[in-house]
Amino acid sequence: MGSKIPPLTYKVVAECSVSKARAGLMMLRHSEVRTPVFMPVGTQGTLKGVLPDQLIELDCQILLGNTYHLGLRPGIETLQRAGGLHNFMGWPRAILTDSGGFQMVSLLQLAEIDERGVNFRSPFDNSECMLTPEHSMQIQNAIGADIMMQLDDVVKTTTTGPRVEEAMERTIRWVDRCLKAHARDDDQSLFPIVQGGLEIPLRERCVSALMERQVRGFAVGGLSGGESKHDFWRMVHVCTDHLPRDKPRYLMGVGFAADLVVCVALGVDMFDCVFPTRTARFGCALVDSGQLNLKHQKYKHDMEPIDAACGCGTCRRYSRSYLHHIATNESVSCSLLSVHNVAYQLRLMGSMREAIQHDKFPQFVRDFMERHYGSEP
Ligand code: GUN
Ligand code: ZN
Repeated sequence: MGSKIPPLTYKVVAECSVSKARAGLMMLRHSEVRTPVFMPVGTQGTLKGVLPDQLIELDCQILLGNTYHLGLRPGIETLQRAGGLHNFMGWPRAILTDSGGFQMVSLLQLAEIDERGVNFRSPFDNSECMLTPEHSMQIQNAIGADIMMQLDDVVKTTTTGPRVEEAMERTIRWVDRCLKAHARDDDQSLFPIVQGGLEIPLRERCVSALMERQVRGFAVGGLSGGESKHDFWRMVHVCTDHLPRDKPRYLMGVGFAADLVVCVALGVDMFDCVFPTRTARFGCALVDSGQLNLKHQKYKHDMEPIDAACGCGTCRRYSRSYLHHIATNESVSCSLLSVHNVAYQLRLMGSMREAIQHDKFPQFVRDFMERHYGSEP
């Protein structure tokens, strides 16, 4: 084996001269990833209603999977026998996996956290399980994603007081346990996660502690959970101010168009969110001016596509009227709208990247905000 190429390299290819926005190129084992990038979420090893071929047609370069779900089902043994998740789900490009703790805490009210890990009851057989940093690494090593996340201690953004600091300090202790347990550092990259609630000094301390570790990129967590935009953007700003310029920055769980634009301006490179595919399941299509709820009667006779300028498989073939007509047939409309919504997110990121490369990002932001907030959808 000897001199192997590193599993992740990242380089900044252009920077905005006014904001902190940057365009980059990240090379992973399974794909190159042009940043800023949006990663659609395929929780169960599938993006609901969208096939890998369709994602490739949309030029999607990286997907997100969840350790919590995949570890429970199909489980480590199946994943290992399949030769990892890429093979198992027939997705040849890059995958990032989240560590599982956040999903348990947000999905299951019953999860309890102590120094050992996150304790929860399996939704399948109600048995008690403990997700430790070591176990999360074991599952993520079996999944074989290009990028994996540390197990972190996440508190709600509404939490205040000593618990916020405790979670931040514990997250730092847990990253060391994760790094130690990580068995495939030569082909999978482990990202630590900056926590610290809405407190600037805690975020700063967390960033500087995590920067002492040997890692190839950083995530910012614990945001977009009901705090004000002011607090949210301020925390992102503080983190990107202190994180190293030459490594990718991933803001977890953020995916509203306006947040993507603002956070790219603040120097974030990677995003994920269930929102585009979840809102598709409710019959909503994303456009620059907001969302179209295709269940609404006003689309009954609307023979235009969702967006004439989109060019996705859905917009090439179907009218709003047809989508309105099938909107109650969930599986078909979910699939068609998910394709469009993922196309929308990817195109938004691509336009930002292009604007940064041509030093036109400030104008892009002005035009986007005008389209987004200037008129009714
Ligand atoms: N997804 C959204 N926010 C978070 C977070 O803070 N931690 C983890 N692990 N996943 C997230
Ligand atoms: Zn479309």
